[in-house]
Amino acid sequence: MARIVSFIATALAWLVISFAPAQAKVTISISCSSLGVELELCQEGANEWAKQTGNAVKLVATPPDAQERLALYQQLLAAGSADIDVFQIDVVWPGTLATHFIDLKQYIPAEELKDHFTTLLTNDTVDGKLVAAPFFVDAGLLYYRKDLLDKHGLKPPRDWAELTQTAKAVLDAERSSNGKLQGFVWQGRAYEGLTCNSIEWVASFGGGSIVETDGKISINNPQAAAAITLAKGWIGTISPEGVLNYAEEDARGVFQSGNAVFMRNWPYAWALANAPDSPVKGKVGIALLPQGSGSGARHAAALGGQDLAVSKYSANPKEAADLVRYLTSAEEQKRRAIKGSFNPTRKSLYGDQELLSALPFLKDFEAVLESAVARPSTVTGAKYNRVSSEYVRAVHNTLTGKGTAEENLANLEKALERVSRGGRW
Ligand code: GLC
Repeated sequence: MARIVSFIATALAWLVISFAPAQAKVTISISCSSLGVELELCQEGANEWAKQTGNAVKLVATPPDAQERLALYQQLLAAGSADIDVFQIDVVWPGTLATHFIDLKQYIPAEELKDHFTTLLTNDTVDGKLVAAPFFVDAGLLYYRKDLLDKHGLKPPRDWAELTQTAKAVLDAERSSNGKLQGFVWQGRAYEGLTCNSIEWVASFGGGSIVETDGKISINNPQAAAAITLAKGWIGTISPEGVLNYAEEDARGVFQSGNAVFMRNWPYAWALANAPDSPVKGKVGIALLPQGSGSGARHAAALGGQDLAVSKYSANPKEAADLVRYLTSAEEQKRRAIKGSFNPTRKSLYGDQELLSALPFLKDFEAVLESAVARPSTVTGAKYNRVSSEYVRAVHNTLTGKGTAEENLANLEKALERVSRGGRW
């Protein structure tokens, strides 16, 4: 908590005046996440809007950790603060924050909105109100070292058992030349990122998505227990103990410095791994996350991403909505995709040749999206953050050896029944 509070203080103090023409009409402040190059791209986009419209923009940096960012937003919004006009929000927050945002349908024409994937628009609609506009869409991907796999005559794994064997084989062969090499890095810290990673393992075994769309709490099942137990087995073998404290950027740091064979991460890591100064530039491949085992086995990528919302406490909602309209436009989404590998939310961009050659995963992305596993934020609404925190606790406890998966999932089921008051979300 102390960390969050100090971050809030720093974040609010750190208002970067990005662009202010001599006679700016109004000043719009926008909060953006700072994961990888997110902040830089957001700033460039907002500056361009300011230049085109004669308004000014202020950028507020927020923590890369989703839960810390949510806590900051909740404090500001609960106080009715007008300090931030435009909020970059996670796809799992519309239900939690809806009452603080305006309906963007008042300002963005339906014609322009309908190009976004319908699933994302549905996700951002709460009680008929479009509380946010889709900004970019995420899905978990498996990154691998193409050069190392080729060198040892190995192929990208189709299931988790193959991933484990391949990682071990490469480690055995390469550790003498690189003592720091790890087999598989991912996000194991007790935060929203672990919800995403572990929902992928669980769904890949056919174990559902914690709470199903009809409100049923499904997580206490043998497939889910098998999936989480499998992940526990990676720690200290193909994954370092430290993975239990890794978020996205920690995993990327290890992988990008050439010290991991496999990494689970979001699309943003692609542009950075292939940046001119990246030690693994040109050596990286991308695949679907592996399948689990058993009759329900499938590839499963967590559905993530970010949206832009306008605060109802904003003094300038019209201009704030215009900034959202600009940042979510096809032109700006294309620029962000090429520069930062942020996946567009607009269907029309998935046929764009320039984009297809810059982002190798784009051509299959619509299929990935169809089989993606959504976290249960729509059905649990404002209670989603409690659900995710309880779930993360159960998974992290299992990974650190505090109870078995079966015990922790049985307790989780009881806790979720209490949170939902008997399944009535
Ligand atoms: C990314 C995703 C977001 C997810 C978060 C977890 O930012 O876009 O949906 O909640 O990672 O760390």
